[in-house]
Amino acid sequence: MHSNPTHWSIDSDKAAQLLKSHYGIGGKLTLLPGEIDLNFKVTTADKKQYVFKIAPEGVDSDYLDFQQKILLHLKGQEAPQVISDINQNPTAVFYDDQGEKRFMRLLSWISGRVWSQVNPYSETLRYRLGVSCGSLTQRLQSFDHPYAHRYFEWDLAQGIWVEAHLSLFNKKQKATLQFFIDSFKDIQEPYQALRKSVVHNDANDNNIIVSEDTIDPSIRSLIDYGDAIHTQTLNDLAICCAYAVMDVPDPLEAALPVVKGYHDSFPLEANELAFLYILIGMRLVVSVTKSAINKIENPSNEYLGISEKPAWELLQKWVTIDEDFAHFRFREACGLEPHPNYSDFVAWAKQEEVSLRGLFPTLERTSVFPLDLSVSSSWVGGEDTFNDLDYFQFKLNQIQKTNSDKLIAGGYLEPRSLYTSSAYEKYGNEGLEKRCIHLGVDFWVPPTTPVHALYEGEVVMAVNDEGEKAYGGMIVLRHTFKKVAFYSLYGHLSKKSITNVQIGEKVGNGACIGWIGTVTENGNWAPHLHFQLTLSLLGYQNDFPGVAYHKQIQTWQSLCPDPNLLFKSADLSIPSKVNSDTLIKDRKAHLGRGMSLQYQTPIHVVRGAGAFLVDQNGRHYLDMVNNVAHVGHEHPKVVKAGQLQMGQLNTNTRYLHENITRLAKRLTATLPKELSVVHFVNSGSEANELALRMIKTVTGSNQILACESGYHGNTNACIDISSYKFDGKGGSGKPEQVHIFPIPDSFRGKYRGVDTAGDYVVEVEEQIALLEQQQKKVGGLIIEPIISCGGQIELPKGFLQGAFKAIRKAGGLCVVDEVQTGCGRVGSHFWGFELHGVVPDIVTIGKPLGNGHPVAAVVCTPEIASQFNNGMEFFNTFGGNPVSCAIAHEVLEVIEEDKLQENARIVGNFLKLGLSELAKKHLILGEVRGQGLFLGVEFVNQHLQPLAAQADYMINRMKTFGVLLSTDGPDHNVIKIKPPLVFSMHHARYFLNHFSLVLQEDFMK
Ligand SMILES: Cc1ncc(COP(=O)(O)O)c(C=O)c1O
Repeated sequence: MHSNPTHWSIDSDKAAQLLKSHYGIGGKLTLLPGEIDLNFKVTTADKKQYVFKIAPEGVDSDYLDFQQKILLHLKGQEAPQVISDINQNPTAVFYDDQGEKRFMRLLSWISGRVWSQVNPYSETLRYRLGVSCGSLTQRLQSFDHPYAHRYFEWDLAQGIWVEAHLSLFNKKQKATLQFFIDSFKDIQEPYQALRKSVVHNDANDNNIIVSEDTIDPSIRSLIDYGDAIHTQTLNDLAICCAYAVMDVPDPLEAALPVVKGYHDSFPLEANELAFLYILIGMRLVVSVTKSAINKIENPSNEYLGISEKPAWELLQKWVTIDEDFAHFRFREACGLEPHPNYSDFVAWAKQEEVSLRGLFPTLERTSVFPLDLSVSSSWVGGEDTFNDLDYFQFKLNQIQKTNSDKLIAGGYLEPRSLYTSSAYEKYGNEGLEKRCIHLGVDFWVPPTTPVHALYEGEVVMAVNDEGEKAYGGMIVLRHTFKKVAFYSLYGHLSKKSITNVQIGEKVGNGACIGWIGTVTENGNWAPHLHFQLTLSLLGYQNDFPGVAYHKQIQTWQSLCPDPNLLFKSADLSIPSKVNSDTLIKDRKAHLGRGMSLQYQTPIHVVRGAGAFLVDQNGRHYLDMVNNVAHVGHEHPKVVKAGQLQMGQLNTNTRYLHENITRLAKRLTATLPKELSVVHFVNSGSEANELALRMIKTVTGSNQILACESGYHGNTNACIDISSYKFDGKGGSGKPEQVHIFPIPDSFRGKYRGVDTAGDYVVEVEEQIALLEQQQKKVGGLIIEPIISCGGQIELPKGFLQGAFKAIRKAGGLCVVDEVQTGCGRVGSHFWGFELHGVVPDIVTIGKPLGNGHPVAAVVCTPEIASQFNNGMEFFNTFGGNPVSCAIAHEVLEVIEEDKLQENARIVGNFLKLGLSELAKKHLILGEVRGQGLFLGVEFVNQHLQPLAAQADYMINRMKTFGVLLSTDGPDHNVIKIKPPLVFSMHHARYFLNHFSLVLQEDFMK
């Protein structure tokens, strides 16, 4: 153990004198924290930097020699370089005021920041840490020194001393410490035989220097070689892991990139990996014991206890991790087969001949009807459908009817969306994570069907695993292959089954072990057998996971081998699904290149559910972008309305049909009475196109005023009025008949601050005057009530009223584009224009109306409608068809029934308030604006210059936490928030928590 250092009478002036006299170097000295040495950062006039270290009195010169020799051995590669004194000695000597001999050393300064100051710790950075530690270990293989073979309490191999101090801890703490101490004692024999070398032995978070790069930081160096020791080489990785995974929800997962990186630069041996879990635990045990002792011996030295709290938190989490599971995960990280017995099992299973009839001899079914229950299966339907067990069973019966000789089965490694109870969720390092990978094969057979053992075995579990979506009756048998254990698990059995067998009882090959349970006794599932194999029980006694996290799929696949290795049924083999790479390739080959994909690694979505999008692996993303899925992705009522009408009739509007008039009445009932006539079309673009035609027909003019940065659609005429497009990339400026007025942005627009409406109205008036000067008549004005693509810009109060007045005075029509903002999104009102106390002449409606189905509308006054009807028929093949109208009508019903406008108001206000609070603390959030669930957050610096990179960083980081956002605005520095209106307070809190976390990250400072 180190003695407590004393450094009487050496201040920075004295140290500066010593540095000058012994090294010939002058400069500014700043005291650095340190446990033993007195450390100063030296900055010379010519900006060279060093660390000047003065050892305390009584320090063994061999100890200093040892450290200097290590550094000289490493020759400055990823380690500080030794600077000799003026006499060419690596260590210099002086006598202090007490006449004590003291030693000094000068090292090169490694620029950067210590690991503890980094935020966030990405997987890449943890991997790089592993690589650095591993390469250091590698380079120290050829180093040795007598001092490396000393007694040292921080040497894990000598760590048993901690047991004598257990009395310092409370009962719960003691139990945790004792667990690791006992485990460590148990492994002593094989552990002692592991390879040894001199290692750094203290890669703690203040000894790792990270580059200043805040987006893609690298590891610059490991410093402080004072704890180096000759010991089991693996200890070094354990120590590195112990510090690198503090303060994370899931430390095992965080350790994996470190292990992988270490292995990539210093290959670990398979027998070492079995001990890594215990050694990480032991490092924490030594650390908290040292802290407890130091607290008594040096109550004032805070540095000594710096990692006590996080070390305890980590210990309490680490002890709950299964040692075997950690071992398998470490093996996977090192490229080994995760379960050591897997390959032998596969080889054995290959020789086996097991019939499916063996499981259900009474059914006489030997072949399989494969049932796809994966997240991308359309057979499954939405949550309401798959949780309706009568319906689910009905669909199964339909299959069975036409496949009476087959077992309906499948599901091994299938990502599923069926696991909807909270027991399948946890908070991991990347936000909320859901277990969804099915580890067994399900056989959909009737209740009471007898289930038989495939091999002779011993009953090791027979439990009633109660709870929603649990196993119900569950039996596990232990078998052996080539004298090695494996287990078979039978889930969803009847209650009777579990009293039918006894733990420890031997069952013969082919013996009946139980019966399929009913819905009420099987965890509330349609009756089936969950049949799973496993090579280890991982310490479970009354349960065993049947579903795993996707990111651990490889480990689980190895731990729980495919039951079809035994059955060998082609119909039970895992179906191949199209992967993202193929989709990207196919898009490149066959789709227009202008159709962009979002995110560097695009998301492959296969399912929508309320406020979530689900990818092909079952990952749920909270969708805060998609205002098209207005009432929630795949809202069951909307889906049903479409399905029913599609099965009955779909045709054009030249026939009488109730759906179109019912929808027209329902829609106009939400609008001011003046707006009573509807034309149905298929998209927002088509709606605006029609509005432009109406203007031209009614006013005789095609002269349109439109807003800077506005977007109104993708057709020729719509692009012509969309400054967002023609002023943007690939655009060729405005056409002659279009007149753009400045975006009424009171934050960063032409006129800023309060009461800007008048100034912006004048801009509109000036455009009108200019037209009139040119003897041209105004046709109309088109604008959104909140400018979406322009960056969620709220129009200043009074602007729309003034602008409408001026347009109408000039004989023009006023069109409000509600394609983004309509149908209750703004919360306080059903339509965005109502925020401004105006009634437009024409309203165009798109996105939200069909909840994803292409239906849009143009609503106008009867006068405009009758003038537009100039003899030319208005015909639209698809617009207003009965299916689209049924869907849109249901959307309007759901908005009302589910009180979604009210939800938009309440949750929107909560979000806006939460973001505004964050904006007070984080000045880069220049403005939080918008209404209801149509909000914008603008990122700027103190000069109001746009911070697009920060906005982009935010959306990418939020994606890692499973939240989808997008940026917009002419400078791409505004984050748009426009989730489906089912977005709840719970979702809002999740978003705000993570938004706040990301704001604290280094790049945001
Ligand atoms: C305000 C606005 N108007 C019109 C459109 C065009 O609608 P669609 O893409 O349905 O043609 C959009 C589309 O994003 C829009 O945002």
